[in-house]
Amino acid sequence: MATGSTDRKIDKLIYLLAKNATVVVPGPKIAAEIGVTRSTVWMYIEKLRALGVEIKGHPSSGYQLQKLPDILAPSLVRPELGENQIGHRIVHYFRTDSTNDVALMLAAQGEAHGTVILAEEQTAGRGRLGRNWYSEKSSGIYASIILRPPLAPAAAPVLTLMAGVATQRAVNTVTGLPVDIRWPNDLLLNGKKVCGILTEMSAELDRLHAVVLGIGLNVNHREMPAELREIATSLRMEGRKPYSRAQILVALLKELERKYRLLLDEGSVAITRAWAAASTYAQGKRIRVVSSGGEFLATTAGLEPSGALRVRREDGREELLVSGEIVEVK
Ligand code: BTN
Repeated sequence: MATGSTDRKIDKLIYLLAKNATVVVPGPKIAAEIGVTRSTVWMYIEKLRALGVEIKGHPSSGYQLQKLPDILAPSLVRPELGENQIGHRIVHYFRTDSTNDVALMLAAQGEAHGTVILAEEQTAGRGRLGRNWYSEKSSGIYASIILRPPLAPAAAPVLTLMAGVATQRAVNTVTGLPVDIRWPNDLLLNGKKVCGILTEMSAELDRLHAVVLGIGLNVNHREMPAELREIATSLRMEGRKPYSRAQILVALLKELERKYRLLLDEGSVAITRAWAAASTYAQGKRIRVVSSGGEFLATTAGLEPSGALRVRREDGREELLVSGEIVEVK
């Protein structure tokens, strides 16, 4: 087990209490089922209480779950995933620095394709271009997925687009909210960012060893910090109600599996086509391009099978964007 990740026995305890939510479960029964002493059960219960899980009772009477916050405990998520390879193993943290850092470390140690690292809270969540990712406790989905695709490093941008399309599809299916995708892979709701994806990898010249797809989705944040208020939002803020993070996560991991299969079976064009159909940024959008070489105005003119975005400058010259950022110009 990765250091600091949620103990498998605490995970079992959460599952046991959730399964028996209508009854009081005696301490000795819990101790026997999860294979620890009664005093350890008590210690785990106290730990869960400190994390906001409401549990009635004490060692002599037994325990009953009153309110389970929407925790992404592996024992609650895993059974919903059936045969999915993505999510066959889930490593869960109540708090870690960055799930991408954990995933990169585990990948370097040989962790298998499909392992998912989750955190309720990140203390050093990382975004693209060296930015931070605001990771409020138990409000968002902070997930890193380890993939080992049999592809060349040149395919990495398409894997990123794939993650964007899968997340957009999952969010839209569960919430019905009209999520857009801004190239390369920001999800927007009513013009504000609701999800970001940070793809990192280890590779040789001709072979990808491992790709880590780091997905940060703002789900139940009631408000954004002042400095993000103009540009970022959450599903709850736009939909005006809370959503189940577990339900969205399950839909996301299933959709990622489908899109990954599609990529391997039909090639990158299948992904770029799906991306272009899902994004208003693919074609005819007036944008400002912000890249290391400076800024300029342009109009989008389609997505290449490589994942590059074709843009037409104001003087009619066309070019392909492979990195950088774009912002809509109204
Ligand atoms: C972006 O800048 O748009 C990308 C944000 C990616 C954030 C996610 S949250 C889970 C994973 N762990 C990290 O440290 N970052 C990614």
